[in-house]
Amino acid sequence: MISHMEFFYFDNQLFVGKPSEPKASSVNLSKWTSNQRTPIYLYDFEQIKRRVQYFKKVLAFVQSQNIHFAVKSNPNERILKLLSDEGLGADTVSIGEIKRAMKGGFSANNIIFSGVGKTKTEIENAIDLKIKQINIESFSELKRIIKICNEKNTSIELGIRLNPRVSADTHKSISTGGADNKFGVDLSELEDVKKALKENNKLVKLKSLSMHIGSNFLKLAELDSAMKILENHLGEFLKEGFEIDRLDLGGGLGIDYDIYDIQKDESLIAEYADLLKNLHERHPKIQLMLEPGRILIARSAILITQVQYIKKNGSTWFAVVDTGMNHLLRPALYEAHHQIWPLVIRQNEKKAMSVAGPICESTDILATDVQLSIYEDDCLAILDCGAYGMSMASQYNLHDFPLEYYFENGKISHLA
Ligand code: LLP
Repeated sequence: MISHMEFFYFDNQLFVGKPSEPKASSVNLSKWTSNQRTPIYLYDFEQIKRRVQYFKKVLAFVQSQNIHFAVKSNPNERILKLLSDEGLGADTVSIGEIKRAMKGGFSANNIIFSGVGKTKTEIENAIDLKIKQINIESFSELKRIIKICNEKNTSIELGIRLNPRVSADTHKSISTGGADNKFGVDLSELEDVKKALKENNKLVKLKSLSMHIGSNFLKLAELDSAMKILENHLGEFLKEGFEIDRLDLGGGLGIDYDIYDIQKDESLIAEYADLLKNLHERHPKIQLMLEPGRILIARSAILITQVQYIKKNGSTWFAVVDTGMNHLLRPALYEAHHQIWPLVIRQNEKKAMSVAGPICESTDILATDVQLSIYEDDCLAILDCGAYGMSMASQYNLHDFPLEYYFENGKISHLA
């Protein structure tokens, strides 16, 4: 099991690198942090590569460029470069993300554009850049795209993001496939959409049906149901003469934040691959497209923070640290649980503590009931922060953004 860990303890100190070679190819993080300014997002690039390569291997029936990395989960240019070098495509939700993806090495014809509120300017720019596919989310959006293509005398390939009325089993704030969610084309609009597509087939070419039912699911039953719905629609569309040749199944595959277990993630990816393989075998001529974010990079980063004060209010012990909801919003926004590990394990008795950020909001608590034995000035690592960590960070209360570093080939470097 230990060989699957990238952040690991050796002599009670947290390292990044290879557990088999703590001295040679790894870095002792408490030593390294002692002359750095915190907080710091530290990424393990080797872990990202291993994860992506594993994903590509078990999903070998999906072409690499059809694995569209969800840029929103981490738009860091160097990370995008690493992923584009692996041959992936990009899934974007704004013109800003499209431009960032291109800077990160993705070519326009490997970029797809989703999102419920694309502006006229964003659509115009995306069409000018000749991206691979726009996933429409309403009849109104389709009408807007047709008008733009007409004005520009050009065409674009489209996907319809259907709202399948099936939601992933996940936190309500990140489930997207339910009938009353704002996402996707409602089934009641489908006839109008089809009619407009047929009437304007020189301008808008329907190539794909698409869905994304939510994020961070660990069970695949809902995905399976939604895939069947998508498959039924595919049959209908093909019967009606639409030349659909790809199905976009979205992202959403999750990680279990309660345990740091790379092998368990891999088993889930394998289970997911089996499910998709059945679909692929039923429709060998249809290319499958995916939009994974979290599963590819969540495990790759920790957020290192320094304890400023230890205090007890009422019956609760607090470790007040130098990062909070401004840099890692997930606990405050979704009651998300991230494990918190000390950089140095002390042998003193532990106590249950709340780890609190500096922000003037009562909800700025990173975790509760963490068993810790720590002193002021000690550093802590918040685990699994590679996805939706830095990408959701703000300067609320005007604290500086965290610094970003990465580990690769046995050493840590600044991530520009
Ligand atoms: N495709 C679409 C259309 C999406 O909306 C999303 C995520 C993805 C793909 C990628 O999903 P993933 O594979 O990463 O689950 N901030 C939240 C997650 C929001 C996800 C938004 N959409 C969090 O921190 O949990």
